[in-house]
Amino acid sequence: MLIDTHCHLSYEDYDNLDELIKNMNGIMIASGCNDKTNKEVLELVEKFDNVYGALGIHPEEIDNINEDSFRFIEENINNPKIVAIGEIGLDYYWVNDNKEKQKEIFKRQLELATKYNKPIVVHSREAIQDTYDILKEYKLKGSLHCFSSSLEMAKEFIKLGYKIGVGGTLTFKNSKKLQEIVKEIDINNILLETDSPYLSPEPFRGKKNNPSNTYYVALKISELKDIDIKEIIDITSKNAIQLFDLNP
Ligand code: NI
Repeated sequence: MLIDTHCHLSYEDYDNLDELIKNMNGIMIASGCNDKTNKEVLELVEKFDNVYGALGIHPEEIDNINEDSFRFIEENINNPKIVAIGEIGLDYYWVNDNKEKQKEIFKRQLELATKYNKPIVVHSREAIQDTYDILKEYKLKGSLHCFSSSLEMAKEFIKLGYKIGVGGTLTFKNSKKLQEIVKEIDINNILLETDSPYLSPEPFRGKKNNPSNTYYVALKISELKDIDIKEIIDITSKNAIQLFDLNP
């Protein structure tokens, strides 16, 4: 059974979202980013058995939130199908004149994860050292979603107890660095994801992504590590079930 550990499922992005979810031969963890998508995640986990959720405030959304945003997360964090705080983190790629505010919002959510003993789903873009320095101060576990740094950093995060989230970018021709990382690190430290609707794997690159494409990520890992795809799916699913305490 496939597990897409990180995707964004919104009726705004898909005309046929209910079909997509029903046709997914496995489980998905839908991530919120802001007030609107956090509410949608909550609706989806109530509606579909195979959808679990993460609630969080994405670094690109920190100007669109208020105290109610944190209250909403905290009020719903003990919902049995909300399995993580995410998508949270730091992003210096688009905007980097608000680093201190990004760090503050990130840490506030790490405090929540600590208080409620939840894993986290971390977004880190052009900010890997700051991400590491902050996470080192907490005793949390989680996923470094869509990992895009070096092998050395991947190993450091694994030492802290994190898993490496691998998605469609692995299948891209120019993705040699990530392919090296996947070859080098133990399969026990890898989680499959799609980040749908973004980042479709080959052979669907450029088209809208969906959680069923998790299969193509598994296929590429199978090629790179020369391990049977069934085993790749079994082990990465076991990793996800343990980390997020899923009950499939
Ligand atoms: Ni995402």
